[in-house]
Amino acid sequence: MARYDIRIFGDPVLKRVADEVTDIDGALVDTCNDMLDAMYEAPGIGLAAPQVGIGKRFFVYDFGEGPAVLINPEIRESDGLWEYEEGCLSIPGLSFNIVRPKTIHIVAYDIDGEEISIEADELESRLYQHELDHLNGKLMFDYLEEDQVKEAKRVLRERTMTAESSGPGLQLP
Ligand code: NI
Repeated sequence: MARYDIRIFGDPVLKRVADEVTDIDGALVDTCNDMLDAMYEAPGIGLAAPQVGIGKRFFVYDFGEGPAVLINPEIRESDGLWEYEEGCLSIPGLSFNIVRPKTIHIVAYDIDGEEISIEADELESRLYQHELDHLNGKLMFDYLEEDQVKEAKRVLRERTMTAESSGPGLQLP
């Protein structure tokens, strides 16, 4: 079992703007490793600190090239538009077509405290933008029409009731 449970939509931590990371140290390395365990177990390709209840600006990810971390990430430039079906571990089982910039230039620190600069396209770019949204208290719902959000919440609520009546499962507020 991973040390962290992934927080689900409705948890107030997911709506908060996270704070800058001030120390890149051994404790942060341990936290990132535990977050990666939770991410792989889910399974998912990205997990932001607020999703495990930590209000700090970093996220872990692995889109097929091995585990990595971005700390205090900032998007410097973005270009184009790309529609893609996105999911989120905090909104389990649902996905939505969302239009976002296609390419981005992102700067951040890595787990060794080195400044890094990445030009990202398509899936990689999408992943960084989605995780960075979590650091700003933003969820996919913020991109949807009111009707879509209502329907999604109804589906999630129904699933919670089913989970409750059939024992342990999805826990939604
Ligand atoms: Ni997410």
